[in-house]
Amino acid sequence: MTEQATVNKETATKVPTLPDAQTVTAVQHYTDRLFSFRVTRPASLRFRSGEFVMIGLMGDPDPKTGKQKPLMRAYSIASPSWDDELEFFSIKVQDGPLTSRLQHIQVGDEIILRPKPVGTLVHDALLPGKRIWFFATGTGFAPFASLLRDPQTYEDYDEVIITHTCREVGELQYGADLIESIKADELLNELIGEDNLRKLRYYPTTTREESPKMGRITDLMRSGDVFADLGVSPMSPETDRAMVCGNLAFNLEIKDLLEGYGLEEGANSKPAQYVVEKAFLD
Ligand code: A2P
Repeated sequence: MTEQATVNKETATKVPTLPDAQTVTAVQHYTDRLFSFRVTRPASLRFRSGEFVMIGLMGDPDPKTGKQKPLMRAYSIASPSWDDELEFFSIKVQDGPLTSRLQHIQVGDEIILRPKPVGTLVHDALLPGKRIWFFATGTGFAPFASLLRDPQTYEDYDEVIITHTCREVGELQYGADLIESIKADELLNELIGEDNLRKLRYYPTTTREESPKMGRITDLMRSGDVFADLGVSPMSPETDRAMVCGNLAFNLEIKDLLEGYGLEEGANSKPAQYVVEKAFLD
């Protein structure tokens, strides 16, 4: 079960009281570790799908000076660049400086959002290829939620494969709902095109709770399971491109695997065959 709240007009137009304030328009909780939320979008904010911004809340007053400082963290924008609002997918850490508080935000509340998007998980950082792999663990799904709703992803590649590894089944829900909505949503269908949507393959796995596919994606790549399950050839630098976003240990392990297939790491300034970014974990 998930809880959902939606904005009403009055709260959305409340006068902001924080610098760079944006108003929360929706909050959805998935598990005791994960939630997503939407906020108003600054009119001037342009970003490339896959980029992140700094968001946060005002910290507690300093006991000596009484001054408050903003508490900011990098968050991938999960919504596509054409969306009127901004969406984020977040972890909840009970003693995390930001997320211990952020997890309690409600519709009508304000967050701070610095409108300066940056990041390496962008199409510009990859050379042309035939197949794109998005590898995510946990909240690392967020930048791909944006890229999967971007028509360019399907225009640039013949096949689009998203893998998502989480501890528990409930943690897959945000991604599963997103994939479902891409296929069912009339607007997205029209925008991306039915033929393009047939390119999309979704490969969810869990590691600590029973589900149809169990195991870390890295192990499933080494064993060849993922390629056999999807009926595709193993990765090669001629055809395959990859974007990676997850916890640090996962990022390092999959980098080794990708290099082993002969792929090289790219950047905005030097496009190549794969790119990596750390999911925010606090
Ligand atoms: P595991 O349960 O075996 O640790 P987290 O929520 O801690 O960020 O983890 C998200 C997912 O990433 C979990 O399913 C976890 O598996 C997996 N994971 C953690 N480290 C690695 C790694 N080095 N390679 C692949 N998957 C990993």
